[in-house]
Amino acid sequence: MNNHITIFDTTLRDGEQSPGYSMNKQEKLRLALQLERLGVDVIEAGFPIASDGDYETVKEIGKTIKKSSVAALCRTRVEDLERAVSAVQHAAKPRIHTFIATSDIHLKYKLQQSREQVLESAVKAVEYAKSYYDDVEFSAEDASRSDPRFLIDIFSAVIDAGATTINVPDTVGYALPWEYADLIKTLNENIPNIDKAVISVHCHNDLGLAVANSLMAVQNGARQIECTVNGIGERAGNASLEEVAMSIETRKNNMGYTTSINTKEIFPSSQMLAEITGKGVQPNKAIVGDNAFAHEAGIHQHGVLKNPLTYEIMTPESVGLTCNKIVIGKHSGRFALCKKLEELGYHLNKEDLNQVYQKVTRLADEKKVVEDRDLIKIMAAADFSIQSQNQSFAAGG
Ligand code: KIV
Ligand code: ZN
Repeated sequence: MNNHITIFDTTLRDGEQSPGYSMNKQEKLRLALQLERLGVDVIEAGFPIASDGDYETVKEIGKTIKKSSVAALCRTRVEDLERAVSAVQHAAKPRIHTFIATSDIHLKYKLQQSREQVLESAVKAVEYAKSYYDDVEFSAEDASRSDPRFLIDIFSAVIDAGATTINVPDTVGYALPWEYADLIKTLNENIPNIDKAVISVHCHNDLGLAVANSLMAVQNGARQIECTVNGIGERAGNASLEEVAMSIETRKNNMGYTTSINTKEIFPSSQMLAEITGKGVQPNKAIVGDNAFAHEAGIHQHGVLKNPLTYEIMTPESVGLTCNKIVIGKHSGRFALCKKLEELGYHLNKEDLNQVYQKVTRLADEKKVVEDRDLIKIMAAADFSIQSQNQSFAAGG
């Protein structure tokens, strides 16, 4: 089995569906181009039946994007399929992504259809899509709460009808990592024609397990992960692209998988999404949060400045940040303060540094973070001159 993991980005579709994240055509186009630079294999550009705007946007993205596949989402209804097929007509690599729910609870209360009816709609939809394009994905919505025997039947049937990717969503973020792993293993071992399709996973983060579940799935045979920049998406969001990509990259010694993600474009992508939507990420968000590479505690700062490997498992540069952030606060030591001042152009001897250190710690007691401009003010008020040649303080602290 090959070890390459296809990254399917749904920031512009599932991500955009979450409150406060809607984007206009120009914004989506800008982000799609950034996703292409980021190296995602598939960009799910929208849900064309949802609105004329979504249709036009998917069409425009299809015309513009050359390297990534461009997917359009549709239910299994004919009018949905027609819209999706038309929306990706100009794409260099078009994909149709059609879905229908498979769990008994959805069949009874949402679709009011039998399993036979659902299976028939799924097969017809895949056949229809396949008559236009080679690349067809079928999703069994709420798969993690569906009867695995029904999943085996429906997935086998859609693969026979031409589906090249079968997606197993944990739509409500309910699965535990070992349950989800078992489900993927069962499907991989029991779908007779599985060699003709890629198993994909699409995990929601309601219990904070979306990335863990996605990684467990690849360990058990999945080769496509659906995810979003900054982990945005319905409710608690989707598996976060940056966490998936950096887990695979950072722990390749353990997992041995590869992706096509250019990790240096991770931070710029996250920033662009935040700028477009006006919604920043929480400071402690893994990989892209403000504090992900920030060190305030003196003992950490000292270690990181001596050798980043002491407290960093990946470099900030590897995700597109130019440097890690030494934050001066009440936990900082002299060593970090000295380095910070050097960055600002001040080279102090030990005695002067001690004086400044007293002032900085007093200020840090009043305000949480001492910013560069505070340091500059302190330096301006100090009565010793700035000595660029002075021996700088380099002891721990
Ligand atoms: O969460 C989900 O089940 C979905 C499908 C449409 C793939 O978003
Ligand atoms: Zn979803």
